[in-house]
Amino acid sequence: MNRKQFLKGTVIAGGASLLQTGNVFASATMADVVPDKLVDSRGQFILNPLPYSKTFLEPYMDTETLHLHHDFHHGGAVKGANKDMLMIEKAIADNNLETVDFWTKKLSYHFGSHLLHTIFWTNLSNKKTEPGGQLLKQIETSFGSYERLKGYIAATAKNIDGNGWGVLAYQPYTKGLSVIQCENHEKLQQWGAVPLLVIDVWEHAYYLKYKNKRQDFVDTLFNIINWDNVADRLNGAVKIS
Ligand SMILES: [Fe+2]
Repeated sequence: MNRKQFLKGTVIAGGASLLQTGNVFASATMADVVPDKLVDSRGQFILNPLPYSKTFLEPYMDTETLHLHHDFHHGGAVKGANKDMLMIEKAIADNNLETVDFWTKKLSYHFGSHLLHTIFWTNLSNKKTEPGGQLLKQIETSFGSYERLKGYIAATAKNIDGNGWGVLAYQPYTKGLSVIQCENHEKLQQWGAVPLLVIDVWEHAYYLKYKNKRQDFVDTLFNIINWDNVADRLNGAVKIS
């Protein structure tokens, strides 16, 4: 089994809220459902450049925070995930499974961080947008109105115990939207849910500018959420249901 095959079989089963293509999802391709490129052709996790300059989100997200957040926090998760994979492969090859549970948990943590950060960067823009079209209809069906969703996901993100993420996801099993309060990068997820919008409330995301005012940071984010990106992600996700 090569690295790519191993990754395909292990990472997805190891804690990611992703779905594999197959007969069940015959009308969708992986790129429709999961447009984010997390690995290279050899199956190594990679850190993509930001889709914009590091000043792009000023003044809502400052340049230094964006630099540290992307290059070191997200970058560290990518390095961590590659190491975790290596350690798991080695343990299997050596038939020494004493520590494999440790590395499997680590992989879930680092993979979750890599995936969520990758989505997070694309969820942001330097102009204010609002949901429309099918996305707005789906929001109204699931939550009543956009305002209700805003209140719900903001409260969910603000009130996470410790570090974590507020996540708006499409749940193909119910064909509806769900808000998920994810602790760390991997806990409290809903199996099968496809993340559409993710709000990072780890302290590294806001502390330089907003200090201990996580609530202000979350409220401010609504000025730079790229709802067009969220809509594109929903369009891909509904193809699997
Ligand atoms: Fe982060």
